[in-house]
Amino acid sequence: MRERPAELPPEEVGRLQSLCERLAREAGDLVRQRSGSAIAVADTKSSVNDVVTAVDREVEELLRARVRAERPGDAFLGEEDGASAGTTGLTWVVDPIDGTVNFLYGIPSYAISVAVVAGEPDPRRWTPLAGCVHAVSTGTTWTAGRGRGAYRDGARLRIKDAPPLAQALVSTGFGYTEERRREQATVVAQLLPQVRDIRRLGSVAIDLCLVADGRLDAHYERGLNPWDVAAGTLVVLESGGAVQGLRGAPASEAMTVAGPAGLVAELGAALEAAGAGEVGHPDGESGR
Ligand code: IPD
Ligand code: CA
Ligand code: CA
Repeated sequence: MRERPAELPPEEVGRLQSLCERLAREAGDLVRQRSGSAIAVADTKSSVNDVVTAVDREVEELLRARVRAERPGDAFLGEEDGASAGTTGLTWVVDPIDGTVNFLYGIPSYAISVAVVAGEPDPRRWTPLAGCVHAVSTGTTWTAGRGRGAYRDGARLRIKDAPPLAQALVSTGFGYTEERRREQATVVAQLLPQVRDIRRLGSVAIDLCLVADGRLDAHYERGLNPWDVAAGTLVVLESGGAVQGLRGAPASEAMTVAGPAGLVAELGAALEAAGAGEVGHPDGESGR
């Protein structure tokens, strides 16, 4: 693979940002069309609760085809159909529907997440360049470009100042396997008395954008995959926030903590004290 430097000229980043948004909106139109008919589970993945619908697959096929047509040299990593190689050093990292369980139940928090990263499509090593999270039900659309800022429906976002942990509204999410959930339940039980409250909204892509937008103070979650976080991470970073792991590590499948830097540090310390992220190996485990 020919490596491209992480730094692209701002106008090229801007073009990628616009393309992310155009593709995410087109995918959103498709999901809205399909929402008129009954949505059924097409298959299950890591557990009976880790579901995929025909619409997830159709959306990913659409995005893959559009990227192939518009950016034939770029690699692609999608949740449903995996990776295809490229030659430019850039990878499109796509979650066709983030929040599929909400989509299945008609709960509004689900989104299309489209991002482009330089380098390996791994949160420990990548450089996110551009991204878009398009909330399908509401139409709210967050975009970001590296060095160009983060936006909600075109309005520039600046993350709020960090509140103390005790006054923080913190969101999280849970994996799909019983074992992972037992571990996550132990951690959240220790955290709950230390914060304003906990939210579990069901789409981490939207959760991260709500953090950048000041509607949540922070998000933490174990077991996230690159497609869950690629676009949302850039929105948080470009709003002025921080996205990290625990014990000085970068964000990864082992743990992602996002918010204003001061709160990320305080929440990270509370999670460490609760023993978060200690079970399993952070490299290459199945985090779902
Ligand atoms: C899931 C959602 C959920 C998060 C899970 C993700 P999916 O993505 O983002 O909020 O807690 O970790 O897997 O399966 O709906 O694409
Ligand atoms: Ca997801
Ligand atoms: Ca998904």
